[in-house]
Amino acid sequence: LLNIDRLKKSQISDLIQKAFFLKENRDLFQQNKPLKDKNIILLFLEPSTRTKTSFEIAATFLGANIINITSANSSILKGETTENTLRTLNSYPVDALIMRDSIDNSHELAASIMNCPVINAGSGKSSHPTQNLIDMMTLNEAKIFLQDLKLTIVGDVSHSRVARSSVAGFSKMGSNVSICCPDYFKPDTFGEIDVQYFEILNEALDHSDVVMALRIQNERLSGEKVDIDKYIQRFQITEKLLIENNIKALLHPGPLNEDIEVEKNIWKSKNSLIMNQVENGIWMRCAV
Ligand code: CP
Repeated sequence: LLNIDRLKKSQISDLIQKAFFLKENRDLFQQNKPLKDKNIILLFLEPSTRTKTSFEIAATFLGANIINITSANSSILKGETTENTLRTLNSYPVDALIMRDSIDNSHELAASIMNCPVINAGSGKSSHPTQNLIDMMTLNEAKIFLQDLKLTIVGDVSHSRVARSSVAGFSKMGSNVSICCPDYFKPDTFGEIDVQYFEILNEALDHSDVVMALRIQNERLSGEKVDIDKYIQRFQITEKLLIENNIKALLHPGPLNEDIEVEKNIWKSKNSLIMNQVENGIWMRCAV
């Protein structure tokens, strides 16, 4: 699973159905342990809380052996390249590699080296397919369906792998995706996908069923001058705005920077699905 683009619409629907089945029938597969004696490597070369923990719990539920490798606990710290690290790992009996990296498309490099399935757990600013699958599942669970859904992504779109996978995945499933951000966070293009751009939050919300808030990715900024007070004034998502604009659901992939892209405690507001996204991470990753 390298990229959401590579999945057919029917495969996305199947994964969502499978994740619901697993969520409802946890005892069944926890007893059967379908991944017993399988070795799964979690290669996380960039920090993660949600993705890493939920993949690890999912693999544990399924009975796999889990090998954790990070930049801090591996020979990458001694200068070994990602390519040589992957080649080394491929010499072992590995049944799947789950990989996160700050470099765009390094999962493609992994797939070209490894003789086992590779799962992209977040790649630079290019893609994060399992987050997109989780978000679709979470909306379906809330009885919000994807065909003709008006979804607006608000925040630092240009540095966001979640935004890129969301545009690709939601558009494939028939949703209309818009973005709302200052011009310095607006990507040049989403390839062939037509994405409407709003610079004024109220106009964007007026046009939306569902909002996805994104944090400012400070670790990926390259010279953009963000006046944070002005940014908050123009783009912060508040409960009042969600209510005034009849927004059906608020998504946020995390990590959450409260008081910046969203107001404090919005995660527990009525239409927030933020904690549902976190919980569903386990079931979608079991399905994957
Ligand atoms: N959404 C997400 O990928 O969060 P983490 O970086 O904590 O895994």
